[in-house]
Amino acid sequence: KEIELSKFNELFRPQYHFSPPKNWMNDPNGMVFLDGEYHLFYQYFPDSTVWGPMHWGHAISRDLVHWEHLPIALEPDEHGWIFSGSAVIDHNNTSGLGTEENPAMIAIFTYHDPVGEKEQRDDFQTQGIAYSTDKGRTWKKYEQNPVLKNPGIRDFRDPKVMWFENEDGKGKWLMSLAVWDKISFYSSPNLLDWTFESDFNPDWAAYGGVWECPDLFPLKTEDGTEKWILFVSINPGGPQGGSATQYFVGDFDGKTFTTESKEIKWLDYGADNYAGVTWSNIPESDGRRIFIGWMSNWQYAQVVPTSPWRSAMTIPRNLELVIKGSDFLVASRPVKEIEKLRVESKIATGHEFNLENELVELDLVPEKQEFNITFLNNKNENVKLEVKDGQLIFDRSQSGITDFNDEFDNIHTIPLKGLSINTIRVFLDRSSVEVFINGGEITITELIFPSENFSKVRLEGFKHENVIHYLKSIW
Ligand code: FRU
Repeated sequence: KEIELSKFNELFRPQYHFSPPKNWMNDPNGMVFLDGEYHLFYQYFPDSTVWGPMHWGHAISRDLVHWEHLPIALEPDEHGWIFSGSAVIDHNNTSGLGTEENPAMIAIFTYHDPVGEKEQRDDFQTQGIAYSTDKGRTWKKYEQNPVLKNPGIRDFRDPKVMWFENEDGKGKWLMSLAVWDKISFYSSPNLLDWTFESDFNPDWAAYGGVWECPDLFPLKTEDGTEKWILFVSINPGGPQGGSATQYFVGDFDGKTFTTESKEIKWLDYGADNYAGVTWSNIPESDGRRIFIGWMSNWQYAQVVPTSPWRSAMTIPRNLELVIKGSDFLVASRPVKEIEKLRVESKIATGHEFNLENELVELDLVPEKQEFNITFLNNKNENVKLEVKDGQLIFDRSQSGITDFNDEFDNIHTIPLKGLSINTIRVFLDRSSVEVFINGGEITITELIFPSENFSKVRLEGFKHENVIHYLKSIW
């Protein structure tokens, strides 16, 4: 019923990004692939367009582009609200909650007990589990929740669980958990009993705010070198203020995460990509590490001018490990499925183009290392990406509605540290811009609220091999 209410065509409604039909959404949760379906759960408050008692909303996709909205999966219970977490398929039925023929889908999440919080106890966040034996359509909470009690630290949340296999072929479940300003690792044979393994919190990392939503996974370079990646979202303290995701490239031996590089690395240099993590159970034959992030920032997420919903997810991205001198970086690239949305592609010659519709992808090749891209509408609102004096500048200060928050019209700069830019892909939707530089080595995700569609793009400093793809709506 709720879904019928929205035609997904309101002002600012994303046309090819996931958003809930109505009301409040934050972090993506429990992403898991099963039998051809990509599940996306998300932090959801069904009663309002601002944050409140958290549920897990639910949607599925067969191609990461088109989404089907499903009923709410998890609701608050006597242990508390349902905060962020992950989901796995228990193939060997280690938990006994499914069978080997029909393994359970198991969600591992944080219970946030508002009563405990009010009483100022320190143990109000614990970890619980729920299971489904019908492909995520219906859920039961585990009767003996919580499965991991709180040792007495207020921030104890966002479990991301994976199956870890030793060289001897023995396996165990591994949980990464955000514990105030560190990541704690726990292990379990059955998802029910958890043992502390180690903490990770090097003194040189970014600590501008609390650590949240970790993700740990291996990734290989093109030439086969394997490293372990640890994502840690922090809020505030991001490069543009407010929320952002830092990551570490290192090694993991089943107990401890170590890293040699001491450089702070950001997954995205824009203001609006937070709390993102990756899908579990992607088949080996596919082999991708697929990511989606919450396309907002706690600085203003609850006051952006959208209705009757608030927030969308980023384009799903494929993560790639790239060697950079003596270090590594994680590049994010839009999943290839997004190319299915192209309805028409044109070579863009000259410097100014009228846009036939507002859903576009630009594939650009800079001619020099000083250039700019400006989207404009008839009201002279604009959004501009520019390279000047060795840095990238993203300017949304004139992009339309910005006055809902003091920080929103800040100009965002990104040091290039000598990097030379070879390619740029820009995705424009009704209320977002996503930029992928050099195959996603630098990404910039930003919200915008133009009061009228952008009808023109101006390009300076580019070669003539630029392509404009017009995209179609998924709704
Ligand atoms: C991150 C976060 C998580 C928490 C959830 C609550 O945005 O604060 O740490 O589990 O949101 O909705």
